[in-house]
Amino acid sequence: MNVFNSSQSWVDEFSDPIRPLGMVPTMGALHQGHMTLIERALKENNTVLVTIFINPTQFNDKTDLERYPQDLDADIKKIEQFRGNIFVYTPAVEDVYGNNITAKSFNLGGLDEPMEGVKRKNHFHGVATVVSYFLEIFQPNRAYFGEKDFQQLRVIEQLSKALALNTKIIGCPIIREPDGLAMSSRNQLLGVEDRKKAPMIFQLLQLLKAQSALLSYRALREIVHDFFKKNDSLKLDYFVICDPKTLQEIDFKQSPGTGRAFIAVYLGKIRLIDNLDMS
Ligand code: PAF
Repeated sequence: MNVFNSSQSWVDEFSDPIRPLGMVPTMGALHQGHMTLIERALKENNTVLVTIFINPTQFNDKTDLERYPQDLDADIKKIEQFRGNIFVYTPAVEDVYGNNITAKSFNLGGLDEPMEGVKRKNHFHGVATVVSYFLEIFQPNRAYFGEKDFQQLRVIEQLSKALALNTKIIGCPIIREPDGLAMSSRNQLLGVEDRKKAPMIFQLLQLLKAQSALLSYRALREIVHDFFKKNDSLKLDYFVICDPKTLQEIDFKQSPGTGRAFIAVYLGKIRLIDNLDMS
């Protein structure tokens, strides 16, 4: 394993890896979801590059950025367990942004606008800024992203198309804890009581899926609103069912069909997102 923190050293020393090169971009605090991405990337490529970088421009909330979990030593130890040709890029903010820490503007085809786009202004332009930097510098053959951030996955596919990049963007299924909670670096910020309640988010999505052949989207929304009335220690931020390609909300009168349900929930100050294919 080779850990480096300057993109110049990649250009000078390693830029000719044995291709194909698979990239797994992360913000660290690695969990089993990330490990699964790395494992898949190792299976499908000769060389894997993991990036660990907490990207400031994708945080619209300063407190969220400040409390984002980080433990680089633990992350490196986890990656060391893999066999294979692995590079780990752990840049400082200056290596990515110089002294201009701002998000660029991209054509994200409107995919950035609903859901997280409404709640986290400019978030996806921040994500696109750092991901396009990584894709352009390292030119991986494949890049791997988890479906927990399903909207992000769609946005990055669009970004890659808009910039005519040659990287294949690969979406990978959500990895869940045994109790159903979608794995996320933010889960470790939950207090003990909130952690016990967090699996209710996936339980609700499963209940909706079980009803989705029989009920309209409008009726499913009512179930969701009743659920949050009864469980007021969880606060609903949004719930929508969208077409998985366009991310446009489906008609209230329709049943979900091949739609995908998306939810964001606050447990105390911690905001968790999840999603589930309704078909
Ligand atoms: O999903 C993440 O961890 C981040 O949004 C990403 C893709 C690494 C960009 O900072």
